[in-house]
This record gives sequence, structure tokens and C-alpha cells, in this order.
Amino acid sequence: MGEKQTIQWFPGHMTKAKRKIQAGLKLIDVVVEIIDARIPISSSNPDLADIIQSKPKLVLLNKCDKANKNATQKWISYYSKNGIRAIPVDCKSGRGLNKFIPTVREMLADKFEAQKAKGIKNPILRLMIVGIPNVGKSSFINRIAKQNRAKVEDRPGVTRGNQWYTISNDLEMLDTPGVLWPKFDDEKVGLHLAFTGAVKDQILDIELLAMDFLEAMQKEVTTEFLSRFKLSEDDIKGIQPYELLEVIGRKRGMLISGGEIDTERAANLILDEYRAGKFGNITLEFPEDLD
Ligand code: G4P
Repeated sequence: MGEKQTIQWFPGHMTKAKRKIQAGLKLIDVVVEIIDARIPISSSNPDLADIIQSKPKLVLLNKCDKANKNATQKWISYYSKNGIRAIPVDCKSGRGLNKFIPTVREMLADKFEAQKAKGIKNPILRLMIVGIPNVGKSSFINRIAKQNRAKVEDRPGVTRGNQWYTISNDLEMLDTPGVLWPKFDDEKVGLHLAFTGAVKDQILDIELLAMDFLEAMQKEVTTEFLSRFKLSEDDIKGIQPYELLEVIGRKRGMLISGGEIDTERAANLILDEYRAGKFGNITLEFPEDLD
């Protein structure tokens, strides 16, 4: 899929995107928000709840193949506690997508019944995909949409210009996903989007990036990370991320004159190894970060 998109949104873009979604909302029964399971906070849109109001929403925690399993489970429980349906998926391989149609049907059971009660024999309900750039919207659509687009004749409420994909005998999907903006005013969001490759690499404070990563390791560590630096879980708990950076620098003999630790070199090493996938599946954000 070509180059990563730079996320640059201007007020005009946002208004246009919002209007497009609002127009789509009138035609659909459920909104499906795709987010990145590694960064559920940074990859979700801050204004979505406002935009969709009372429309039911299903969250897809995508790229769960790259996320920490325990952390993904924590997110699922968090959403469930807050009355939001969420399912972990991997739109690259298709794993987890078998739950998608049954979950939507379950969420819309009352609507199906209401339509049947009105005398509609085979009701068709509709959905719309939304999400920030690079989160996996096209991958999802390619996986879930049946080959042929649905015919649109004789459909009440369907305006010209809207195309629908058939995804099952009773579900259709608006063919163009709503592209949303991320939260901008938070430095961490920018860091995490760059970290996971959602936006192009910018000039970032490498030490800050590494400390942020280490903080995530302190919450949900991987065995790969521990064994790579010959650390135990106890070694990494209860210390500041900067101290942990120093511990790692010392272990790798990264010293500068005077015996000080070269934390910048250590930070670069950590990020290089992270990007090379040496630390296993990592999640950078946890429900407790929301407090
Ligand atoms: P978008 O429409 O929301 O902008 O996202 P898109 O589907 O284009 O996906 C962006 C990148 O994320 C693509 O990678 C895609 O393959 C990858 N991706 C999507 N879903 C998953 C997933 O569940 N797991 C993993 N591991 N990757 C996923 P790319 O490098 O840009 O393209 P490609 O080399 O994979 O073709």
C-alpha cells in the first residue's frame, strides 16, 4: 500500500471529513471504528462520540497480530465495562474476522426484528467504516466485502452516488470509509503514531521515544525484551524509565568519558531493535493510561 500518509489536517479538511461522515450516518445502522490495537488511545478519533451521537458503534482492534495479547485482553474488558462492543482482528491475515458478522447481527438484533415486524421479509442493515489513516480500513474492506457491489435500485434512503458492498445476505457496507483525524494536542499521540509507523518518521526526540517505550515495557513486558537485555521483571519495575534506559546502556557498555552512560545511543539501540521486531508484540497504551 504505497507510502505512509502524513497526517496533516487543517480545519477545512476536518469540517469536510465530519460532514461526509454525518451524511453517511443518515444511511446506516452501525458505525465500525477501526483502531490500532497497539495504540487504542492515539489511533482513535477524539470527536467520534460527538459526531455519531447515539448510533451504535463497534470497535475493531486491528493489527492485533502485532499487539501484546494481555494488553489487548485488557482493552476488550475495558470496552466491555463501558458498554462498547470490541473485537480483536488482524485484517492482514483475516484472523478474528469470523466474529465480525455475528457481532454486528447481535448488536442489531432489535433492528432486524423491528424491520420484520414492519413486514420486511429479508431486512438489510447497513454499516460504515471509520478510522484514522493507515489503521487498516482498506485492508478490512478488501477482506470483508464480497466480490460484487450491491445493487442500489429501489432502496429507500439510498441517495445516488453511494455505493454499497454486500458483506452478507443481511448486511451492507458503505463503500467509502470515513477518514478521521487523530488527536493533535498531545505529544504522546504524535510519538505513538510515528512509533507504529502510522505517520512518516519525523524528527523526534529519540530519548523521549525510548523512555515512552520503556514505560510500556514496565506495564506489560515481553519475554523477548527481558532476555535480549538479560533483565528480570523485578529489574525493570519500580524505577524511572530514564533509569531503565541507563541500566540498558550500562549492560551494553555504552559509556562516554567520565563513566557516564550514553543514553542517546542506548535509546537508538532500543528503537532500532523494536523496529526490527526483536522485542516481540508490543502494546504502547493501556486502559489505565486514560485515568
Ligand atoms: P487505511 O486504509 O486505513 O489507510 O489502511 P490500510 O488498509 O492501507 O493499511 C495500512 C497498512 O497497515 C498496510 O501496510 C496494511 O497491510 C497494514 N495492515 C492493515 N491491517 C493490518 C493487520 O491487522 N496487521 C498487520 N500486521 N498489518 C495490517 P503497508 O505496509 O502500508 O502495506 P503492505 O505492504 O502490507 O501492502
